[in-house]
Amino acid sequence: HITNIGAHEALDSRGNPTLEVEVELSDGASGVALVPSGASTGNREACERRDGNAERFRGRGVLDAARSVNTELRGLLLGMRADRQAELDQAMISLDGTENKRRIGANAILGVSLAAARAAASSLGVPLWRYLGGSQACVMPVPMINVLNGGAHADNPLDFQEFMILPVGAASFAEAVRMGAEVFHSLKEVLKRAGHAVNVGDEGGFAPDLRTAVEALDFLMDSIERAGFRPGQDIALGLDPAASEFHSPAGYLYAGQDRHLSSEEQVDYLAELVRAYPIVSIEDGMAEDDPAGWQMLTARLGDRCQLVGDDVFCTNPALFQSGVEQGIGNAILVKINQIGTLTETQEVLRIAARHGYRAVISHRSGETEDTSISDLAVAGNGGFIKTGSMSRSDRTAKYNRLLRIEREIGAGAIYAGPLSFPRVIR
Ligand code: PGA
Ligand code: ZN
Repeated sequence: HITNIGAHEALDSRGNPTLEVEVELSDGASGVALVPSGASTGNREACERRDGNAERFRGRGVLDAARSVNTELRGLLLGMRADRQAELDQAMISLDGTENKRRIGANAILGVSLAAARAAASSLGVPLWRYLGGSQACVMPVPMINVLNGGAHADNPLDFQEFMILPVGAASFAEAVRMGAEVFHSLKEVLKRAGHAVNVGDEGGFAPDLRTAVEALDFLMDSIERAGFRPGQDIALGLDPAASEFHSPAGYLYAGQDRHLSSEEQVDYLAELVRAYPIVSIEDGMAEDDPAGWQMLTARLGDRCQLVGDDVFCTNPALFQSGVEQGIGNAILVKINQIGTLTETQEVLRIAARHGYRAVISHRSGETEDTSISDLAVAGNGGFIKTGSMSRSDRTAKYNRLLRIEREIGAGAIYAGPLSFPRVIR
C-alpha cells in the first residue's frame, strides 16, 4: 500500500516549471513521474493548474498544484493499494469534483496517477509496459516522426504545425528509428544546401523559413530519396495542420500565403495534398469547432487516410464517444495530460478498439525525460506513437525507451508498420 506521496517543481523541455511526483509503497518500491504540457491545446482539455503568480516563473509556477498533491491527494490515497489504478484515479476525480479537474489540477492528478502505476510495476518487478499491457503486449508502434515544425511550435510562417515521416516499410522498430534518423540527417543537408537555417523547433524538427505545405512536402520527398528510401513504400508522410490554431468564423486563414479557405476548400486542399504526396495520416485537418468540416473530411478521405482527432476529442471518453457517433475521423490522438488519469486514458483506448478507430499515443510539445508514453504505446498494442523528431533528449528518450522495450520483448515483438498500411504500394 501507499505510504507516501510527494510532489515538487521541476523543469520541462521549454524551461517552464512542471510537476515531479513520487509515490512510495510499504514494500520499499517507489515510482516517479514527470508531467508534460502542450502549446496548441484543445479548448476542452483537462485543466493544467498554474499559480498565476507573476513573481515566479512568469506566472507558470506549479507550487499550488504540488501543495495539493502533498496535502489533499496524499491524505486521500495513503494506505490504498497502488495496483488498484481505477480506484485511485476515481477517488482523485471525485475529490476534485469539477468537470475538467481544475480545482486540484489535471497536472497534479496525472502526476500521481502515473507515479502510482510506476510504483506498482516496480513492486511487482515488471516493466511498466508489461504491467499495463499484460502478457499480450508485443506490438511495437510505428513512430510518426515530426521532422519539420511550423505553427505554434516554431517562429516560421508555416501554417501547418507538423510534417511527419512514418517508416512504414521497416522490419522492426529499431530499423524504423534508423531510417528516421537517416532521413532527418538527409533533410538537414537538403535544407542547408537550399540556404535554410537548420535550428530545431520545440519537438526537435527543423523550422526553416518556409511558407507553404507544398514546399515542406517537397523537401521531405527529396530528403527521403536522397537517403536511399522509396517515398510511400519505405517511408510514408503524415501531417498535423493543427487547424484549430488558424481557424476562425471567417474560415481557415493561411497567413503564410495570405488566403482564407472555407471548410469545403480546406477539405479540397487536403485531398489535393493526399493525391499528390504519399500522405497516410492527417491529424486535426479540421478545427475542433468545425464538426461539419470534420464530417466532410472523413467522408472524403476516410477510406484512404488515417484521420486523427486531437483537439476535437481531447482524449476525453465522452467527447470521443460522441465524435465517433457523428462520424468524425477514424483515429484518435491520445495525450495523457489532456484527460489527466491513466484510467480514463485506457478507457479511451478501449472505445477506440471497440469502434475500429486507431490510437496514436502522443507526447506534448512541452516534454520531460519521462518515458511513460513509450510503455503505454506498447501496452495498448495500439500501433502508433507520435513523439517528435530525432533530436532533443526529451524526444529521443522515448525512442530509446522503445528500443529497450523491443529488446525486452525479444523474438515475439511485432512491428506495426507493414500491418497498419497495407494500402501503401510496396
Ligand atoms: P501540443 O502539440 O502538445 O502543443 O498540443 C502537439 C499536437 O498538436 O499534436
Ligand atoms: Zn495535434
